[in-house]
Amino acid sequence: MTATPQHLLDIGSAPLATLHAILDRAQRLLDDPREAAGLLEGRLLMNLFYEPSTRTRVSFEVAALRLGMRVVNIAAADSSVKKGETLFDTFLTLQAMAPDVLVLRHPEDGAPLSLADAAAPGLHLVNAGDGSRAHPTQALLDALTLRQHFDDLGSIRVLVAGDLHHSRVTRSGVALMKKLGVGEIRLAAPPGMQAGPQVSEGTRVFDDLDQALEGVDAVMMLRIQRERLAGMEAPDAASYHDRWGLTPKRLGRASAHCIVMHPGPMNRGAEIDSSVADGERSVIVQQVRNGVFVRMATLLHLLGA
Ligand code: CP
Repeated sequence: MTATPQHLLDIGSAPLATLHAILDRAQRLLDDPREAAGLLEGRLLMNLFYEPSTRTRVSFEVAALRLGMRVVNIAAADSSVKKGETLFDTFLTLQAMAPDVLVLRHPEDGAPLSLADAAAPGLHLVNAGDGSRAHPTQALLDALTLRQHFDDLGSIRVLVAGDLHHSRVTRSGVALMKKLGVGEIRLAAPPGMQAGPQVSEGTRVFDDLDQALEGVDAVMMLRIQRERLAGMEAPDAASYHDRWGLTPKRLGRASAHCIVMHPGPMNRGAEIDSSVADGERSVIVQQVRNGVFVRMATLLHLLGA
């Protein structure tokens, strides 16, 4: 039997049994949310966010509240980080107040890894996105969405398209799809935004969105990560949309049952048309809803409840 890990830092370091357990529990919670009501009564979760977030921060809070936890939200911009306090000192300060779970979002790759060794045995760290490196609960909620639409992940083709290079969603999502045995993973990106060799290994790589869409069962569109371009000039929305926007016409190349995914936030009119984002094949709202249940399941798993 695999031991339950103390933290959830990325998909690569998470045992496959843990990933399956979270996905299975999330689906059971969706089927009957009363199953876990109050199971973590009185436990304390801290949300420490150094970057803006709507979906991830709020869904961790909602998940924790539904389980009976108490929640403290700390936005770095409103904290002593602004006076020069380091991440490590901020972590030690918060840990001294004895939270059970610390959820961290940070712009630097590996930020949560740097804290894991200093975590007390009773503290569970959850990575809510670090730089371009990892966003494991996003990958899990996306995988749950795929499982809800396809009985056999081994027989489907999934395309991830857009700014792959700067995307932690790509890194974690592709890593999880590989672990779960998704039949074919396709990657498509504009010049300068392609995924690196480690992510691309074992996938089909395209430099043309129309070709990449042929016959896919699911497509996940990603926004340009303007905050991580580091000097690279971002294309304007209209010219990007011409070649890399998912339009109804382009979606016609995919299979008739193809679902449309997006982790959010969307830039409508850039990587996706509003008519597609709000269309009948869109499961974007379902992804958000799944995020609450995946985060509930993650908290329950890490805390052994
Ligand atoms: N998908 C995602 O991480 O969204 P937020 O930045 O709003 O949390």
